[in-house]
Amino acid sequence: MTREIPDIVEEVAKKSKVKILFVCLGNICRSPAAEGVMRSLVDEAGLQDRFEIDSAGLYGGHAGDLPDRRMRLHAFQRGYNLVHHSRQVRMSDFDKFDLIVAMDHSNFDRLRGMASTLDDERKVVRMIDFVQGFPQCDCVPDPYYDGAEGFELVLDLLEDGCRNMLKNLMPV
Ligand code: 4NP
Repeated sequence: MTREIPDIVEEVAKKSKVKILFVCLGNICRSPAAEGVMRSLVDEAGLQDRFEIDSAGLYGGHAGDLPDRRMRLHAFQRGYNLVHHSRQVRMSDFDKFDLIVAMDHSNFDRLRGMASTLDDERKVVRMIDFVQGFPQCDCVPDPYYDGAEGFELVLDLLEDGCRNMLKNLMPV
């Protein structure tokens, strides 16, 4: 699978404020971890004022919940404190955010299907397209039914992908 940074990223990088929404299914494992990793990189770079970062899930069944205990534990071991409360994606997210970042192909297809304009459709991108290593992975896989190694892989992919995403969104 070839990965390419989506064209829209170059346009978004010109904005004075960049708003990113990370999306997975439950918003209790992958996307709150992505939010935590990206927030930490943005803080390290001193760019807190330029970025707005949030996460949401396509499935609303965990709404209000903190991230899964296993995800919080693995993230904490790498220095990330995940405190997001799960919420479902809403139509107004397409108005508010510049990039809507899907963790897997199902998330991507469902988000693209929700978009009501072509501009909104272009905002929906795949997390894996920002990942430079891990050629064996074609998405950020759902770790919910996996063991510890599934959660570690999610964090490895997110650290790689978020670093590259931030590099491509540096002020121009
Ligand atoms: P996530 O993982 O999409 O990475 O938050 C999941 C969490 C919960 C469920 C599915 C995936 N679930 O079906 O409850």
